[in-house]
Amino acid sequence: MRITMVGSGYVGLVSGVCFADFGHDVICVDKVEAKIEALKNGVIPIYEPGLDALVESNYKAGRLSFSTDLAAAVKDADVVFIAVGTPSRRGDGHADLSYVHAAAREIAQASTGFTVVVTKSTVPVGTGDEVERVIREANPEADIAVVSNPEFLREGAAIDDFKRPDRIVIGTTDERAIEVMKEVYRPLSLNAAPLFFCERRTSELIKYAGNAFLAMKITFINEIADLCERVGADVQKVAKGIGMDKRIGEKFLHAGPGYGGSCFPKDTLALVKTAQDFESPMRLIETTVAINDNRKRAMARKVIAACGGSVRGKKIAILGLTFKPNTDDMREAPSISIIQALQDNGAEVHAYDPEGMEAARDLLGPVNYGQDAYSISEKADALVLVTEWDAFRALDFRRLKATMNNPLLVDLRNVYPKTEVTRHGFEYHGVGRAGGDA
Ligand code: UGA
Repeated sequence: MRITMVGSGYVGLVSGVCFADFGHDVICVDKVEAKIEALKNGVIPIYEPGLDALVESNYKAGRLSFSTDLAAAVKDADVVFIAVGTPSRRGDGHADLSYVHAAAREIAQASTGFTVVVTKSTVPVGTGDEVERVIREANPEADIAVVSNPEFLREGAAIDDFKRPDRIVIGTTDERAIEVMKEVYRPLSLNAAPLFFCERRTSELIKYAGNAFLAMKITFINEIADLCERVGADVQKVAKGIGMDKRIGEKFLHAGPGYGGSCFPKDTLALVKTAQDFESPMRLIETTVAINDNRKRAMARKVIAACGGSVRGKKIAILGLTFKPNTDDMREAPSISIIQALQDNGAEVHAYDPEGMEAARDLLGPVNYGQDAYSISEKADALVLVTEWDAFRALDFRRLKATMNNPLLVDLRNVYPKTEVTRHGFEYHGVGRAGGDA
């Protein structure tokens, strides 16, 4: 199959490279010339484990190419994926579809023969109909079927998620498009990845409903964690105890500082707006959004309380800045609100993150960056673990205690058992672990 990816950002690049790895001929297109030039030279614009090697091998094998020329890349394609950005529109939280529409227009003008146009970008319900309208308007002669095929990739695990998905959702009722999409995903269905066909609007909603449900699940366990702290229970055991019920499931029940990233915050907000527009408000998700927003600053209050009620003039060491490990993505990261609140309360913040410091520099106020956990902890009054990178999972507490001003660990990801930390003379504060340890 000849596949063209319009948009070589996170989703477009990962999906394009993986399709190429499965043997398809893939062209990744982007308007940003510098990005395309960099990709041709093997420079990957994002941090995603394993992506660079996969780009290199498929580029060398000739199955993967990069271009800024959308028309040429679309002309002979069997399938064109739209994987451009859909940021939250300033002011109202709706997804901004201008890039999607612009791509659809250009594709319509360039396509020849039967072409399947697939929206992979996360788009609100009804966008497929709108894309179809834009295409018909731009080129009434075009022989195009518009399909929805949402992605379910997690940053940091995207290649594995692509190659071993729980399901592949394909929204179309067009028989020719169904056959083409089966062919596109044949290599994965050989891996027993189930293809789930449904109507286009249903497929579009599955993406939002899935992310909103996961965001709600995290928010639920975060509230249970707060209650655990009041009643003397252990949230990790509560999560395990309920997660063993297959109807609930054990995943996405890790209490922490609130969800961040480029997906959950944006998609929950967009779903809330869509639901309001259709006069079918989603109060559960509205509340989820509000609770999660409050939680980030509440984590700063937790640190302040652990420091005896004030951080004024104190040195606080922050371990981990990105919204989760194995990414350099700082979007909506809890660390941003936490650091801001600590600084508002007079703290001097020192921080370290394996991949996120470059992006953090543009987002955060005055922060002193170090080169590891130990350098930022020198003379610190508290160490706060915000993102659970592997590199932070076996800290040398003896070494930390020797250099810190006050041996205090606030573990916002519950990485450590309390006893392991306290036996080194540390004071330990986890999330929702009043009653337990392991
Ligand atoms: C999420 C979904 O998991 C993907 O399926 C989806 O494709 C993607 O959004 C998207 O829409 O593109 P991602 O944002 O990369 O993926 O990251 P997650 O692993 O889902 O984590 C999101 C946030 O939730 C992080 O801040 C993480 O720390 C937090 N989280 C996750 C928790 O606090 N507790 C958990 O148990 C799980």
